[in-house]
Amino acid sequence: MAVIYTQQLKLNMERRDFIKNSAIAAAGFAILPSGSLFADTGKVRLGYIGVGMRGRVHIGSALLRDDVEIVAICDTQEDSLKHCREQIAKAGKPAAQEYTGGLDAYKKLLDRKDIDAVIISTPWQFHRDQAVDAMKAGKYVGCEVIAGLTVQDHWDIVNTSEKTGVPYMTLENVCYRRDVLAVLNMVRQGLFGELVHLEGGYQHDLRNVLFNDGKQAYGGGVKFGKEGYSEAQWRTQFNIDRDGDLYPTHGAGPVMQYIDINRGNRFTNLVSFSSKARGLAAYVEELSPGHPNAKINYKEGDVVTTMLNCANGETVLLTHDTHLPRPYSIGFRVQGTKGIWMDVAKSIYIEHQSKKDDQWDSTKEWFEKYDHPLWKKYGSNAKGAGHGGIDWFVFNAFVKAVKEKKQTPIDVYDSVTMSVISPLSEKSIKEGNKPQEVPDFTRGKWKTRKNTFALDDSGY
Ligand SMILES: NC(=O)c1ccc[n+]([C@@H]2O[C@H](COP(=O)([O-])OP(=O)(O)OC[C@H]3O[C@@H](n4cnc5c(N)ncnc54)[C@H](O)[C@@H]3O)[C@@H](O)[C@H]2O)c1
Repeated sequence: MAVIYTQQLKLNMERRDFIKNSAIAAAGFAILPSGSLFADTGKVRLGYIGVGMRGRVHIGSALLRDDVEIVAICDTQEDSLKHCREQIAKAGKPAAQEYTGGLDAYKKLLDRKDIDAVIISTPWQFHRDQAVDAMKAGKYVGCEVIAGLTVQDHWDIVNTSEKTGVPYMTLENVCYRRDVLAVLNMVRQGLFGELVHLEGGYQHDLRNVLFNDGKQAYGGGVKFGKEGYSEAQWRTQFNIDRDGDLYPTHGAGPVMQYIDINRGNRFTNLVSFSSKARGLAAYVEELSPGHPNAKINYKEGDVVTTMLNCANGETVLLTHDTHLPRPYSIGFRVQGTKGIWMDVAKSIYIEHQSKKDDQWDSTKEWFEKYDHPLWKKYGSNAKGAGHGGIDWFVFNAFVKAVKEKKQTPIDVYDSVTMSVISPLSEKSIKEGNKPQEVPDFTRGKWKTRKNTFALDDSGY
């Protein structure tokens, strides 16, 4: 008993020191968690909450490295745990401790003192609680998109991160796309002049993801919910219950880097519009005429558009478009006083520098010339990693921050800003397209914060 008490006291003291350091850090994250909670081995010790499709991509990234240990995994479904177990064994790495048995099983994983950071890849409705609890337990958080469901969820994440001093990073992989970073390089070198208008979004035909009975290799069928597989188990329901930009970060994240949002600039307000919802019902009806899932009143408009204003005068247009037949495209557009990039046509035009006046150049030569130093250095490491390599970069950036006990390159303010667009767009639509103020999560610090994202080839 006495031994247990002494151990507990020691842990409490370590924790108090941690919190004390963290409180100092809270003002601007000058000092980050250090000391007792981190291994002396130099390895980053990871816990995974959610090892479904996405969680196992992050497991795959960890298995490629020798500077991380997968200490523990948590999931509510044996099927996901089994796949993950096999994945780890196949790589010849030690088995991870497993936590399961209910929605709260992750709390037991968080109780462990030998975990430095957690990767959260669960359904959206769990992100806020799991992230807040993880930060309270002193673990760096790398959370999949999106951060939370309500505006308050986003404040809770900021407040907890500030109070505990524990960094939180949205694992927004599109920020690391090779073309996205080449354009960032060009923006910083002034090729586009002063930026005026930007576009992006999530334009991805998800019909075979939202209806997926798990029988085919790449999804498909007409089932969801309890009869569904992977995201069809939970994501489809959001399309029945909500109408808004459900997934804004893939477009917003990179755009924010181009125009220094939270770092000299900020989103001030937004307004959203939603089209009629026809795509999902039509899809089911075509595959299985008369099926009850074709008669559901899906609330989420097939195309949701959101316009945002910025303090420095730029406008941003985001599009959420996941229910209609279409090839994938984020739909980036970066336009300034000297040029424009549009990703859907892989086209670029720089005044006085493009081959012909008023005619698009192919992006190929431009992007080779302005390839970002990060990709030049790590492109070969990322080969074979998910989504054309970008999953390696985002994972690497997170692990590097944990290892060096530094702030994450996409910090808590960036994370919640790109994600809060979701509940705000929902509210705008609900209120008849009424403009909504975007909260200043930095509480004024955006005026002096500097953009440090991907400044060089250091891995961030
Ligand atoms: N950045 C990207 O490119 C990308 C791609 C795919 C998915 N995602 C995001 O990743 C997240 C997960 O998506 P997915 O495709 O892996 O979904 P999924 O349904 O395949 O996996 C989710 C897993 O979480 C588990 N789970 C549910 N509740 C849990 C709980 N309380 N505790 C522990 N485990 C729990 C489920 O059993 C399942 O194994 C989502 O936020 C999604 O939007 C991001």
